[in-house]
Formats: sequence, structure tokens, C-alpha cells
Amino acid sequence: MIPKQKSQFDARGVPVSVCEPASLDDYEKALIQFQSYFGDPTETLSDTLQRDPEFVLGHIFNANAMLMMSERQYLPAIRKNIETAESLSSKSNDREKALISAARHWMEGRWDKAAATWDVVLAKYPHDALAIQCGHLTDFYLGDAVNLRDRIGRVIGSWDQSMPGYSYILGMQAFGLEECNEFERAEETGRVALSIEPRDGWSVHAITHVLEMQNRYDEGQKFLEDRTGDWSGDNGFEFHNWWHLALFYIEREDFDDALRLYDERILPEESDLSLQMLDATALLWRLHLQGVDVGDRWNAIADSWERKTLLESGYYAFNDLHAVVAFAGAKRLGSAKEVTNRVIEAANNNPDLTRMMARDVGIPTCSAMIAFAEGRYADAVSDLYPVRSIAHRFGGSNAQRDILTQTLIESAIRDGQARLAQNLLNERSMHKPLSPLTRRFKNKIVH
Ligand SMILES: [Fe+2]
Repeated sequence: MIPKQKSQFDARGVPVSVCEPASLDDYEKALIQFQSYFGDPTETLSDTLQRDPEFVLGHIFNANAMLMMSERQYLPAIRKNIETAESLSSKSNDREKALISAARHWMEGRWDKAAATWDVVLAKYPHDALAIQCGHLTDFYLGDAVNLRDRIGRVIGSWDQSMPGYSYILGMQAFGLEECNEFERAEETGRVALSIEPRDGWSVHAITHVLEMQNRYDEGQKFLEDRTGDWSGDNGFEFHNWWHLALFYIEREDFDDALRLYDERILPEESDLSLQMLDATALLWRLHLQGVDVGDRWNAIADSWERKTLLESGYYAFNDLHAVVAFAGAKRLGSAKEVTNRVIEAANNNPDLTRMMARDVGIPTCSAMIAFAEGRYADAVSDLYPVRSIAHRFGGSNAQRDILTQTLIESAIRDGQARLAQNLLNERSMHKPLSPLTRRFKNKIVH
């Protein structure tokens, strides 16, 4: 057996408690997979943990990687990793103990406390790339745009280009800047990241968001298409960048290509991954709002959600909304109402944070989608209008939450609320001048 060493350090100089040297090499490999989305980091470390079951950082890593999927289905495996890590606590260093505590907070629904705990780690270990990335992704799930930007801002001064994975830190900063509407700095930072590591899907994504928010749809399409080899292939995040490309197609009224991407890239086969299913669902809904007949795709995606909702609904309101949208699209209003009832239960019984998400945003948005599907457009407007300004509380990006604004505008148009629809489109024009999508909505208003 290879002797274990004490006081080892990872490639960024962060201390790691006792483990086999080969395990630390595997951790580095898994970390790059986690940062780049190429490959499967949990699979990498599962093999390692078979060989070195006392590698506490490996257990912590795998728990965190699964937590970041935001699904209830992974909780049994996560619990096993966390409990094993806790049983090794006496052999763990202070950093690892704090990482275990953050993971337990997340597992038990205290995502906000997990986010704060990762910052405690980062105050002492600003080079802890695992804590940075988990904190960043949690800020995304919390809809915390300020910390998407500022958490990275608190540590990036300790980094430089000589350190492994620096581009991924820049990519996270770029996305945070973009979500805070600092588009120029976001694009500049993302492009520096890509100059260091072109195969960085998160930096590609951050720049894509800038191009989306500034309505540079021709440029956005070219930007993504010119570098597909850098962000697609064996990449766990590619469906989302393909989704962004489809949004550029929708803007220019190229619905056939948007559907082609849906079939070939966004959901080429059935998936049980909520993150992928919700993007697919949202794309169909955006096309539906544009009057596009998406055929039997609604039934297919609704079937997938039917298989998940018994276990998953009530866990995370952002996912639940998209299940309801799929059921609304497929005209399965019984299923849509069942999920909404689970969101109402979550608003009463969940831990504080996810209870708030369900109560403040989940219930009104799910209700609005059902109202829309039932042709009660005035009710959809009443549900959506007040929630729009606080919808970030249930997470997602500004671009993803645009589904709510587009549904509100379409509801106002269909309900004959011409002045409201016009005002909302004026607001949209202020943010996105020269938008063909906005013009198409305007053309539908009956004065
Ligand atoms: Fe995105």
C-alpha cells in the first residue's frame, strides 16, 4: 500500500488532509472536469474512493458535485458521502470540516447558509477552487446576482494567470458581472478567460449572456457557431449553450433552426436531468408564444416531467415552474395543478429558504402558467406582474427568467390590455433596441 502523507497541498497550494498521493492527482482531474464541464468528475472520484475510502476531500467533492444538480433524486447518495466525510472528521483539516458543514447545510435545504459557509472557507483559503465554484453555483440557484459577481471579486485578487484554472475564475467573474448588467466588463473579462483557455464553456456562456442581453443576436450566433468544438462534445453543460444559440435563432424568426437545435442538440434523447429538461421546456414555450406549432414535442417532454415530478416536485420551485410549463404546453392541466399543489405544500413545509422560493415566486408563476393555458389571461397578468421584480428569488439567470416577462406581455395582449402590453414592450425596447422579437409582440397589439 502506498504510504499516506500529511499536510499535502493541491495544485493551488490549498491544504488537503491525509490521502494517497494518487488520490490528490485524481482530485485535480475531477476539479478540472467540474470547472470545464468536460467529463464526469463524480465518476472519476468514485473509482478513487473505492481505492482510498478515507479520502475525505473526495467524499466532499462528490457530495458537492451532486448537490449542484439541484435535484432531490441525488440526496441519498449525497447523504452517504456527507456522512462518510463526517465520520472522518477527526482526520480532516479545518478547511475540510467547513466544506462538510457547507454541504450539510445545502443537503438540508439551507442553501443560503451553505453559501455563507463557503465564504468562510474562502476568507482563509481564497484559492479553494471547489469552494469558489460551489459558492458561485449556489449564488446562481439563489438568484443572488450581487454575489455571483462579488464572491469572485473577494478572491480573484489572490489569483493570477500562473495558477491552474485561472480562466475558470475569470469566467465566473464574467458571468457575475453580466448578471449585474455590467456588460462591457463582463465581455472583456470573459474574452481574457478564453484567451487563456478557449475550451472554457462557462466563459463562452458568460459572453453569450452579454450578447443576449445586448441583443447582438447575429454576433451571438456567430460567436457560438465559430467555436462549437470548444464548448460541445463530451460536455455536461453544452445543452445550455445550444439553448442560448436557439434563442438567437428565435430572435431572428428562424424557428425551423431553433427546432432543429432542440431535436439534435438541446434534447437529442430523453433526459432525466432537470437542468436540461427545463431549458428544453422553456424553448418550446418561447416558440409557443411566437405561434409556432412544436408538434408532439410537448407530449414527449411532458412524459419526461411526469416521470420526475412525484419525487422532485416541491424540492426547488424553479424546476417546478418548468414542469408546470411543460404540462401547460401539453394541455395536461391535471398534472400542472398537481405540481402546483406540491409547490403550495413546499411553501408551508420546506426549510426556510426553499419555502420562501415556493411561496414568493413558485406559487404565482405556476398559477400564471395554468391561467394562461386555460385562457384566463387577466389572471395570468395579475399573477405575473407583481412577481416579475422579485422573481430572481427563485434563482436562474436574467435570460432564463425572461420567460415570465414574455408570458406576461403575451397575456396582456391576449386580454386586450393594450396600454400595459405597450408599456412592457417600451421597457423591453429600452433594454434591447432593434429587437425583432419585440417588434413581433408589438405587431400583435390590437389598439
Ligand atoms: Fe445561460
